[in-house]
Amino acid sequence: MTKINLLKEKGMPLEKQVKSWHEIVKRPYNRVLVDSYSRTRQILLNGIETESWFFKHSWVRMLDDLELKKVLVSIRRLEDMQQTTINWLAPHNQSVLDTTLGYEQVAVDLTAWLAQNEDDEYIKETFDFGLLEDYDHLYRYSQFAYLIEETHPDIILHNNTDVTIGRPTQFHHNCNALRIRKPYNKDKTSPKTKVNILTLISAEQQTHNFYAEHGFMYGNTDLKRLYAEICDVEEEHVTMYETLLPHNETMFEKWLIHEFTEACNYYNCYVDETDEKLKLIWEEMLSMEIEHLKIAAKSYQKYENKDPEAIIGDNVVMPCHFESQKEYVKSVLNKETNKRVDKNGTFNTVDKLNDDWNSYNIQKSTGKDGVPSEQAINLSINSFNRDIALADYELINNQANLLEKSLQKDGIATNTISVDKYKEIQKIKFEY
Ligand SMILES: [Fe+2]
Ligand SMILES: [Fe+2]
Ligand SMILES: [Fe+2]
Ligand SMILES: [Fe+2]
Repeated sequence: MTKINLLKEKGMPLEKQVKSWHEIVKRPYNRVLVDSYSRTRQILLNGIETESWFFKHSWVRMLDDLELKKVLVSIRRLEDMQQTTINWLAPHNQSVLDTTLGYEQVAVDLTAWLAQNEDDEYIKETFDFGLLEDYDHLYRYSQFAYLIEETHPDIILHNNTDVTIGRPTQFHHNCNALRIRKPYNKDKTSPKTKVNILTLISAEQQTHNFYAEHGFMYGNTDLKRLYAEICDVEEEHVTMYETLLPHNETMFEKWLIHEFTEACNYYNCYVDETDEKLKLIWEEMLSMEIEHLKIAAKSYQKYENKDPEAIIGDNVVMPCHFESQKEYVKSVLNKETNKRVDKNGTFNTVDKLNDDWNSYNIQKSTGKDGVPSEQAINLSINSFNRDIALADYELINNQANLLEKSLQKDGIATNTISVDKYKEIQKIKFEY
């Protein structure tokens, strides 16, 4: 790939970045006809904008320098307008559950891409661990998409992402302190790794916020509880990825990484986009971000007198290439469904957990009346005699074995589907 130094590219001057309301609110894509990966790009970019906007709010609240404040509040209004444009590319008739399947497809296929493109083993391991959890969320939500809205999950997923049991959601609830990871060394970590992490934090944070803000929109109590349960896991995911960030990165460094992450994501989406209208939007947003990046770089030089390329390098990175990751997910599933976070954030297998494992308390408290993520499957079995599962024959038939591997000795909800039940329901053929 030819080198592209975004700091040397031409950006759109800030005064031209203020758009009219007609330009801000664009025609949405079509719920059914849009490519599933155009939708995942739109979802992710919304999260990237929200993160950049909120970062600037947090900073300005702690800031005394009026000149710098003026710059940050001007740019953050533009981030806000960008966010509105992007989020509202989703059509009004894309239901909350449709969008939810899109969010989990982002989480699965993005995390799989990042894990395979991550040179730091510790960070890759963190990504792989989260991957199997979002994969299981997709499976639980898919039950309700079919039960409540009669939406075949592939209307949204386009057969790019499998829908089967992962590491069961009831086991994702941990003592949040166990989720804390070791921060990267800011002087030794590559710009690529920094961008990868911030991209994933942005995706997880907006997934959490979306569930927190939309779970109540269904009248079905079991589904509401599922949103509450998975929202809590996304909170843990934000903790897990966010704690990879070091405390000693300065705010100017963080700003540079934020604008660089935005620009790289737009660049990646622009290169990959198949929808011509969306491609034009990503291109325009990229030229806006190049300008933000240049302003952040100049401020870094002015306030800290250092070279911005020492932080972001001299080449664009590709943090969000979407393609089907079924084979990769399958390989991680087979190896890691029985993994858990244990003391000091080390990973352990279920059979080696001590009786006083810190996460049992939270699992027993939240799951004492049964867990919604198992209820989802119980309801599917009640309605269709089996679960909604989409994958090749071999993977679907492997569900019982994967479950057996991942069951804990303790902290199991009373409404958990048994291994035998899984074996039994997999034999039932389901016509969608
Ligand atoms: Fe932006
Ligand atoms: Fe998730
Ligand atoms: Fe997640
Ligand atoms: Fe920006």
